[in-house]
Amino acid sequence: MKESLTETRDKSLDYILPRVTPDVRMRRLRSKAPLRAMIRETHLRLEQLIYPFFIVEGKGIKTPIKSMPGIHQQSIDEMLKEAAEVVSLGIKSVLLFGIPATKDADATGAWHSQGIVQKATRELKKHFPDLIVVADTCLCEYMDHGHCGIVHEGKILNDPSLEILARAAVSQAEAGADIIAPSDMMDGRIAAIRAALDANGYENIPIMAYSAKFASALYGPFREAAESAPQFGDRTSYQMDPANAREAMREIELDIEEGADIVMVKPAMPYLDLISEARYITKLPVAAYNVSGEYSMVKAAAANGWIDEKRVVMELLTGIVRAGADLIITYHAKDVAEWLK
Ligand code: PBG
Ligand code: ZN
Repeated sequence: MKESLTETRDKSLDYILPRVTPDVRMRRLRSKAPLRAMIRETHLRLEQLIYPFFIVEGKGIKTPIKSMPGIHQQSIDEMLKEAAEVVSLGIKSVLLFGIPATKDADATGAWHSQGIVQKATRELKKHFPDLIVVADTCLCEYMDHGHCGIVHEGKILNDPSLEILARAAVSQAEAGADIIAPSDMMDGRIAAIRAALDANGYENIPIMAYSAKFASALYGPFREAAESAPQFGDRTSYQMDPANAREAMREIELDIEEGADIVMVKPAMPYLDLISEARYITKLPVAAYNVSGEYSMVKAAAANGWIDEKRVVMELLTGIVRAGADLIITYHAKDVAEWLK
């Protein structure tokens, strides 16, 4: 820094103001919008977005989810209408969650060929063959107790759950799913699912693993949407402690060893450090799930006029990409597609 005394200062002042001239002027490249655009480092792209659907049995059903403005539970016919909109917006991929008419202790709806996600997948692939259909593979929506695994005497059993998860994955692949996305957090599920897919002729179907999935309070609105709240206890015996970063990297490394093709960090916003670290430790694509609670907070603040929704959403999602995410699952996808036009 160069320093000189200001000649023109008021001589009555009894303090000295050294004139500081910066050697480096960062603002040079911020002076004009086109210039800022030229040197922008991170670009949120339409191709990175995955939009979730919540599908119910029936016809003509489109029930708003109160805590997630703009998001609905819908029957397959209604879903197809929204899928047409999604495709015309240029969104490449959707993620399917099913809400079965009946739940039981074997999660029948998760693996049955007439399960809601299986039926929805067949319809989507029939009408929109180029739309990438990601099937969320879990048991909680289909279990009467709402847990992501088989329950025995109040405990969530790991190994017996693997069989039924693998069965669900194969049945989703059979229905035409392009990507299998296990979200249960049982140990060894990626290996079990990979082996089952391969054994059944689906060796070319990739697995997007919910690898570092935390026991987060931000899933609250989703559980209303998917009717998947656990009927007793919580998910802390299988989902991760939000405080743990090293353990998250172990989960990611394990899923890669077991055969994951894409790894995921979930939720996104409070876990940007882990998205960044994941990006660093693996060459696999990294996905981030911008979950229901993250969405609802933004929508609530925007509805109150407290924030500028468009600017906030673009800033949040750009931050997730900047941290290192290649893919973002987000309920904002349709809005973002409009804004990116
Ligand atoms: C179920 C599942 C959950 C989410 C995706 N899959 C909820 C949970 O684990 O309780 C959360 C998604 C969201 O909040 O948007 N395995
Ligand atoms: Zn689950």
